[in-house]
Amino acid sequence: MNIQEFIKLAEERSSIRKYSDKEVSREVVAQILESARIAPSAVNFQPWKFLIVTGDKSKQLVRASYAREWFATAPMYIIACGNHQEAWHRSFDGKDHTDIDIAIAVEHICLSATAAGLGTCWVCNFDAAKLKADLSLPENLEPIAIIPLGYSEGDGDARPKKRKSTEEIVQWLEE
Ligand SMILES: Cc1cc2nc3c(=O)[nH]c(=O)nc-3n(C[C@H](O)[C@H](O)[C@H](O)COP(=O)(O)O)c2cc1C
Repeated sequence: MNIQEFIKLAEERSSIRKYSDKEVSREVVAQILESARIAPSAVNFQPWKFLIVTGDKSKQLVRASYAREWFATAPMYIIACGNHQEAWHRSFDGKDHTDIDIAIAVEHICLSATAAGLGTCWVCNFDAAKLKADLSLPENLEPIAIIPLGYSEGDGDARPKKRKSTEEIVQWLEE
């Protein structure tokens, strides 16, 4: 893959908020998870766990943590959890890097899913305490993001990209 192809993939990834009920094969899910497994993390501590939600009862619990009509159209979910005890904490100030590590792995999931012709959407605005209790997650695991995964229905309600300009976000320090 050259850089133009990578930029095209990054542009193609979009938040999909309308899914068809077509199932995603286990092989494709395994490939997507492989892209998360090989993600970098601070000091290579890999403080993550991915819960793959395909069962009806578990899907209802996930949907109850984020009650949106579109969210319930997804045929499956990946819950990206972080373990703060396993993560690297910077020695200078104790900064916890769990969220950074999880974010990298989640974006690997979103990009590889796009390459596989699948739709995803980052979801963080869910009731994390409720989901943790409902799924009886161990104390040390925090559900950080939920990624609905499925084939887009039509355009998947994707919106045109709205981004700040390069000039607004980039500053070169050349002195
Ligand atoms: C950390 C993070 C959390 C997000 N949480 C939600 C969410 O809870 N619900 C939602 O509908 N979209 C959520 N999004 C999706 C953003 O709204 C979306 O990425 C942004 O508007 C850019 O659009 P695009 O993904 O289509 O390029 C989240 C995105 C990120 C990166």
